[in-house]
Order: sequence, then C-alpha cells, then structure tokens
Amino acid sequence: MSNIPTLKPIQIGPITLAHPTALAPMEGVTDKAFRNLIRNLGGCGLTVTEFISSESLTRQDQKAWKMAEIDPDEHPVSIQIYGREPEKMAIAAREAQELGADIVDLNLGCPSKQVTSGCSGSALMKEPDRAAAIFKAVKQAISVPMTVKMRLGWDDDHLNAPDIALMAQDAGASMIVVHGRTRTQMYKGLADWSKVKAVKANIQVPLLVNGDILTAQDAVHALKESSADGVMVGRGSLRDPWILNRISHHLRSEIFEEPSLDQRHQHLLTYFGILRQGVKSDQQALGRIKKVIGMFTRGLALGDELREKIFHLYEIEAIYDVLADYFDQLKRNQLDDSFAHLNQAIAPSELISAQQEKYIVYQRQYDQNR
Ligand SMILES: Cc1cc2nc3c(=O)[nH]c(=O)nc-3n(C[C@H](O)[C@H](O)[C@H](O)COP(=O)(O)O)c2cc1C
Repeated sequence: MSNIPTLKPIQIGPITLAHPTALAPMEGVTDKAFRNLIRNLGGCGLTVTEFISSESLTRQDQKAWKMAEIDPDEHPVSIQIYGREPEKMAIAAREAQELGADIVDLNLGCPSKQVTSGCSGSALMKEPDRAAAIFKAVKQAISVPMTVKMRLGWDDDHLNAPDIALMAQDAGASMIVVHGRTRTQMYKGLADWSKVKAVKANIQVPLLVNGDILTAQDAVHALKESSADGVMVGRGSLRDPWILNRISHHLRSEIFEEPSLDQRHQHLLTYFGILRQGVKSDQQALGRIKKVIGMFTRGLALGDELREKIFHLYEIEAIYDVLADYFDQLKRNQLDDSFAHLNQAIAPSELISAQQEKYIVYQRQYDQNR
C-alpha cells in the first residue's frame, strides 16, 4: 500500500474536513437531495452547491434561493457563486453566508452566458485584475472561509492557474480547487493532473485536484501526479454514488465493503423519494429519475434492457416496478459482481449527460457573445 500518498487533514480556515474528498458542484445535478444522498453514503468531506449567479442571489430570486438551500445536517457545505462585478459578488457572498454556508466558493471554472450580466467563470482567468478585485471584495464581506475553483487556464498558451491561485491565496482564500483542463478544452481530452502540480508549488493553502476521477485508483494517480491535498469528484459520483467513500477507504488502506444489490436498489428509491418531495409534480421528477437510472446502470449487466424499458414509461410507479424486476433479475442470476466494473476505468466521455451538454452550450454562447 506504499503507493498510496499519506495526506494531512484538510483545514479550510477553522474547518477541518473529515475526509480529503469533495463532491464537485454540478449544475442541475448537485441539488440538496443529491448532495445529501452522497454525504449519507459516507466518505464525503465537503459538498458544494450548484453555481449560483451573484446577480440572482442579490435580487433574491426564488430559483437562486432554492439552489442555495442547504440541509441543517449538511456540514461542511460550500455555496458557490459566480459573477463579474466585485460589489455584487461581495453582496452575494454575504447572502450565502447568511443562508448558512460554512464556506463561500468562487467559480472561476465555468462561464454561463445564460446569465445575462456578461460573464464570469473561467473568463475571469483572462482578467486577473478583475479576479483580484472580486477576491478582495468577497473576502472583506464575509467571515466564513472563501475558496476558489478554477481550470488550468484559458488555453494551453495561458496556463495561469498557479498565478491566479496565488493571487487568491494572497487575498485570503483558504483553499483552491483545480480542474485539470483548460477552458478551451471544455470537456474534451483528459484532465491533466500533472499540470495541477504547478499550482501546488505556488501556494500554501490546501489544494484539491479535480477532473476525470472515476475510481479510487484514479484518485491515487491524481493525488500523486498533482501533489494535491485531496480530490474533488463530479461525474464519477453519478455512475458510482459510493465513489467518495470508496476513495476515502482506499486512501486509508481500508477495505471498502461493496454495497449489496438490495442496498443499491434502496439507494435509488431513497434518492427518488427525496427528489419527489422537492418538486411540485411527479412529472417534474420523471426526467431526472430516468436520467439517474441511466447513469447508474451504464455498463451494468442487463442495463441496456432496463434503460430501453424505462425510456417508454411515463409513470413513476411503473418505473419503480421495472426497477424492482431488474434488481430481482440480477439477484436470480447471481449477477452481484456485475458492479465490479466500477473499479475499472471507463472513458469520461461516456459520462456526458444532457445537463453537461447544456453546460457546454452555455460556454459556446458565451464565446460567441464576447
Ligand atoms: C453537468 C455539469 C454541471 C456542472 N456545473 C458546475 C458548477 O455549477 N460549478 C462548477 O464549478 N463546476 C461545474 N461543473 C464542473 C465540475 O464541477 C467539474 O469541475 C468537472 O465536471 C470535472 O470533474 P469530473 O470529471 O469529476 O466531473 C459542472 C460539470 C457538469 C458535468
């Protein structure tokens, strides 16, 4: 087990993470229900809300408030905001703190032109002065820790994450997260964990490495290549909701006990139950339920058949019946080990979801409008 890096506990200001792992913010995915589901499965050091526009948070927009909602038991949790006006970002950060955030995270990783106020996200990496003004304004406005999530840079010729991270640290940021891709890469190619190392060399505050971590082995490689203090996992948690717990066990050289088929089935039902509580009608939950079943069963025995069946169903109870039959069938055929592939690598491109495509569309629109 000597190939597993020894990690120090991650300290974000006064907050100590129980595990060196975080669930990545994912718009349209990591709402309160999903975050709690992952947290309850264990091994999760930190959760982060979906990105919330500073504009809408300061306007006290209902949707933004819903996105910022956190569960009383959900700690530590970070509310992520984005925007390009330092004053608005400061007000939004204060709002996030008042809404109960333990940490306020600033998004320098993804631009969303959907938000009309001009854009922010990774574009700020091209505007270091503006980014610095935002860091300063936000830091002054809050007493909880500020963290920053970014990409490696705009493109291969501008890998300035080390400079921006240092700038953030100098302004008082307590942790940095780096997704090992450039902005122009969007989600193409593979995350380059080794390029994150230059960020680590430039800062003293903790660093999380992010991008394409799909297995516990990936986490070890990412940590070794980047020298980061912990990992942040996004899409991997959709395919394998236990991934953070799996990683935490692996990093402590402990055996992870695979959940049984019954536990997996129950996990889905619990999640769907929470989802249904959070929406006005079942119709609203239907698409999400189908999507999650699709992600969860990708590559599993009989998964294709299941997806084909549920695709044509429009009643949640009917989907539950088909799902129950599916798990029964796995048990009857003793296909418990059909989940073993979760420890094997799969191409991150297989994890592209409709939501991610939407996210990419925002980025394209943003580029065209600049
Ligand atoms: C559907 C989707 C939505 C995302 N939304 C956000 C977001 O709101 N804020 C953010 O900082 N990053 C967002 N990201 C980027 C992820 O946090 C993460 O950096 C990226 O997916 C790479 O990590 P992964 O390979 O573990 O998924 C999103 C990614 C996806 C796929």
